[in-house]
Amino acid sequence: MTAVVHHHGPPIDSGAVPLVLLHAFPFDARMWDEVIARLDQVPVLAVDLPGFGDAAHSAEPEGATLESFADAVAEAVRGAGVSQAVMGGVSMGGYVLMALAERHRAMLAGVALLDTKAEEDTADAAAGRLAMARRVLEEGAGAAAGMVDAVLGPTTRQQRPEVVQRVQAWLTGAAPQAIAAGQRAMAMRPDRLHVLESLSVTALVLYGSQDAITGAKEHEAMAAALGTEAVVVDGAGHLSAVEAPDQVAAALTDLYRRSTQGTQAGPA
Ligand code: MLT
Repeated sequence: MTAVVHHHGPPIDSGAVPLVLLHAFPFDARMWDEVIARLDQVPVLAVDLPGFGDAAHSAEPEGATLESFADAVAEAVRGAGVSQAVMGGVSMGGYVLMALAERHRAMLAGVALLDTKAEEDTADAAAGRLAMARRVLEEGAGAAAGMVDAVLGPTTRQQRPEVVQRVQAWLTGAAPQAIAAGQRAMAMRPDRLHVLESLSVTALVLYGSQDAITGAKEHEAMAAALGTEAVVVDGAGHLSAVEAPDQVAAALTDLYRRSTQGTQAGPA
């Protein structure tokens, strides 16, 4: 099982601490493009998780777990010559980041958790995921197309048809095997609030005010565990990184500066 990293921005010299970005389900590294375009002098590794984007060959619908995704990310990041990074994840990317924090803690110089949660699924939610996994394998990625209404906030859906179309195209373009693998992996994930409580790294917790999937309660719990305050982006839904790239890029730049201050690789 492999992840693929896409490098953007300044070169990653020996000892550099890049910003590693993990995408939401069932998207890929392209969901970060608008954010990355707004980052100045920040070396970035945008990840395609196993089965998604350029890692589409690596979907394993039966065997995938968030822990195996986390190990694949750690291996791909180390393969790029990086031993420590500031890492950010949206939603499923956040679940993977929390698994990585449990298994590869020394890699983290800072963490950003966006539109995600530390809690496990309820039994009903997990059963819904397994049903969706079966449907996409039978009917194709179109079975997941309705997700666009859940992941985008009402402001984006009403006022920005180009964003709706872009997200819809990503959704229907995802490999059915990867959608099934992602759903099965998320259904099995444990609660990881204790992992955040035991982390002592610089942190950002951020969510859209119109996020219909993960809201204030979940983000306040993660922020309290990490000793920070949740940042709310007005008018954005669950995909704040796509809907509000200015605010998300500014918050990530601030996290990156705070996390790398005093290190050789930090920006001036
Ligand atoms: C995501 O955006 O990655 C998903 O909404 C995560 C989930 O289904 O819990």
